[in-house]
Amino acid sequence: MSVNGVPFITLNRFEDGFREEFLSGVETLFDNTQFIGGPQVNKLEEKLAAKTGAKYSVGCANGTDAIQIALRASGVEKNDVVLVPDMTFWATFEAVVNVGANPATVDVSRETLHWDKETFKEAVEKFKPKAAILVHLYGWACPDTMEIRQIAEENGVMLIEDGAQCYGTTINGESILGTAKISTTSFYPAKVLGASGDAGAIFSNDETLINTCRTLINHGRTSHYSHGLIGWNSRIGAYEALFLNLSLEHIDARLDSRRKAVKYYQENLQGLPLKMQSVPSHVGENGYCSVALIEPVLRDGLTAALKEANVGFGTIYPGAMSKQEGAPAHSVGSIDHGNADYISKAVLNLPCFAYITEEECEYVCQVVKNYFSK
Ligand SMILES: Cc1ncc(COP(=O)(O)O)c(C=O)c1O
Repeated sequence: MSVNGVPFITLNRFEDGFREEFLSGVETLFDNTQFIGGPQVNKLEEKLAAKTGAKYSVGCANGTDAIQIALRASGVEKNDVVLVPDMTFWATFEAVVNVGANPATVDVSRETLHWDKETFKEAVEKFKPKAAILVHLYGWACPDTMEIRQIAEENGVMLIEDGAQCYGTTINGESILGTAKISTTSFYPAKVLGASGDAGAIFSNDETLINTCRTLINHGRTSHYSHGLIGWNSRIGAYEALFLNLSLEHIDARLDSRRKAVKYYQENLQGLPLKMQSVPSHVGENGYCSVALIEPVLRDGLTAALKEANVGFGTIYPGAMSKQEGAPAHSVGSIDHGNADYISKAVLNLPCFAYITEEECEYVCQVVKNYFSK
C-alpha cells in the first residue's frame, strides 16, 4: 500500500478483537447496570498501581481534576503560591487557580525543555511557594526530577507531578508516576493510555494523601450521606475503566510502536535545520510524541510543505503560560528567561501514534528531506 499522507495522530488503530471485547464488556456492564464504581474501576486502580509501582492509585474524571484533587489533598488553600512551568498545557495553570491558589510561572530549560534544578531553586527562594507542579511533557520525564524532588523536600514545598503525558515514563529505570510523592495522569483519548472519553488518575505511596483524594473525588464522603470535606464529583465511569483495562493488556505493544517512530525520526532526520530532540540516558520515554526544534523563521515554510504533502504535525505548545490572555489576572509573578516563549515558536511535532508504520515514518522523513533539499 503506498502512503500519500500521514495524520498527526489517529485513534483508530486498535488490535484485532479489541472492539468486540470492549463492546461485549459494555453489554455486561449495561446488563448489570454497573455504571459508576464496581469491579472494573477496582481492577483498574489495582492494575495502575501494580504497573507503576505506586502503592495506591485512584481513578477520577479527567487529568485536570486529578491535579486539583492532588493540590487539595496536599493542603493547598486559598492564596497559597504554587509554582508551575511556563511551558505546559493550560490545565496545569488552571488547576491552581481553580483551587483558589495563585500560580507563579517558572521558565524551563532550552536544552531539556523542562524545569532545571537551578531555576527551580531560584523560584523556591524567590516565591516561597506552598507547592509546585513539576510537569513531565512529551512522554519524557524531566531530566532533573530527582534533584527537584530533593529541593522541594528540603524546602518544605509540596511537589505534585503532572504526568498527564507520561504513563510508562521512567527516571533511573523507575516509573515517574509510581515514585512521585503524589502524581497525576490523564486518560484523554489521545494520550498513550487513552480512554474512550475523559478520565484521569492520581498516584501516591502515602496512604493519608490517597485517602483524602478518594474522599475529594466523591463529594467529601465519609459514608454515603456523611461528608467530611468539601469535595466534588470527579468519579471515573465504569465504561472508561473497562476500556482502560483492555488497553492495559496491549500497552507495551502500543508504546513500543510509538517509541520506534520517535527513534526512526531521530535516526533519519539528522543534519537538518529541524533538530530532533532526544532524552538523556537516565530518562525512559513512552513515545507520546516526537519533538523537534526549528528556528522560528523557518517553521512556517516547513509546515506549509507538510500540509501540501498531507502530513499532519503539532506544535506542543504554541504559547507559554505567561503569554496566555487569561494569565495576568491570576499570576503572582514569573521567572522568565525567554526559553518557554522561544520553544513555543520553535517546536514541531511529527506524526506519532500507536501502530504508525515504518512506511508512514519514511514518507514523513522524505517530505521533510525534500523540503530542505530544495
Ligand atoms: C500536561 C497536561 N496537564 C494536564 C492535562 C489535562 O488533562 P485532561 O485533558 O484529562 O483534563 C493535560 C491534557 O492534555 C496535559 O497535557
